[in-house]
Amino acid sequence: MATTNVPVTRVLSGIQPTGQLTLGNYVGAMKNFVKLQHEAECYFCIVDMHALTVPQDPKALYNATLDLARIYVAAGIDPNVATIFVQSHVPAHAELGWLMECSSYIGELGRMTQFKDKSAKQEVVTTGLMTYPCLMAADILIYQASHVPVGEDQRQHLELTRDIATRLNHRFGDFVTVPEPYIPSKAEGGRIMALTDPTKKMSKTLEDPNGNIYLMDPPKVIMNKIKRAVTDLGREVVYDEENKPGVSNLMVLLSLCTGQTLDEISAKYDGYGQFKKDVAEAIISVLEPIQQKVEELRAPGVIEEILAKGADKAEAVANRNLAVFRERFGLVPRRRA
Ligand code: TYM
Repeated sequence: MATTNVPVTRVLSGIQPTGQLTLGNYVGAMKNFVKLQHEAECYFCIVDMHALTVPQDPKALYNATLDLARIYVAAGIDPNVATIFVQSHVPAHAELGWLMECSSYIGELGRMTQFKDKSAKQEVVTTGLMTYPCLMAADILIYQASHVPVGEDQRQHLELTRDIATRLNHRFGDFVTVPEPYIPSKAEGGRIMALTDPTKKMSKTLEDPNGNIYLMDPPKVIMNKIKRAVTDLGREVVYDEENKPGVSNLMVLLSLCTGQTLDEISAKYDGYGQFKKDVAEAIISVLEPIQQKVEELRAPGVIEEILAKGADKAEAVANRNLAVFRERFGLVPRRRA
């Protein structure tokens, strides 16, 4: 997953509180958040300001922000081990975001695949949708993160972050950590595909909701969606991304939910019926405990308290590092009167 030998020391990642989280978000990113918290100093944010790059219903955004924080904790991120916080609670992100905008080029932002895809779907395109990767670079560089666990679809944004960091090091002398991607391969969950169309990725913005498993889907819904999932010709359960994308996708999910290898899974089944039933049951057994914990975390004040502490911890680090960026750029530090 980490493609270089750079030691994993400090980790940052974030997820947007838009729509309902999918199983793709969980296995591509969040599962690694849970793992990495025991290996490095970790910062996990709910990137509410990123969500604003496309129109949001304020009330829905508010609720989705708190729900995503609950999901982080319910999925196993321990707030006493890792720092969980809301991006907009630490204004230094936005401030560094401006410095990143002044360190990136319109040309490179316009080449971002996600910008091209998302802007094609909007009636009007906000400036924020274009400069979004600058804010993402700020999120990462402000913690001097060594690694960034994300799914494959974020690789290009990370490459841009690395380009900006390298550019700043050349301009102002080495002072920024150039972050490494921490991305699972496809067989390890880095790109989970839609159940209804395995040529598209599972995504919060997919038109057909049956293509996604949502983390809050009840067991019956999960069972139905998996039963209806597109499989391929033949009846062999083999991992073959090219010729059997549907079955391969389900195999990855089964493997990640049970710990079985793809070979073990392949050897076990000689048709799709029992295989699909087992896939659904494995997903349910992973999601049910998370769903129960989310409900417990709805007790008044609980998640707010976790986020308050997280913001304090994150802000202390972010402000310290922001001061270094400000100094390198030549901004005069403010003296208190
Ligand atoms: P977002 O909110 O779209 O997705 C959150 C995470 O889930 C991963 N992911 C997937 N992984 C595997 N298969 C899929 N089908 C799938 N769909 C989504 C994404 O790769 C991501 O890791 N720009 C980011 C949020 C962000 C961020 C950051 C991430 C803002 N600042 C700083 C890391 C560091 C985004 O929109 O993710």
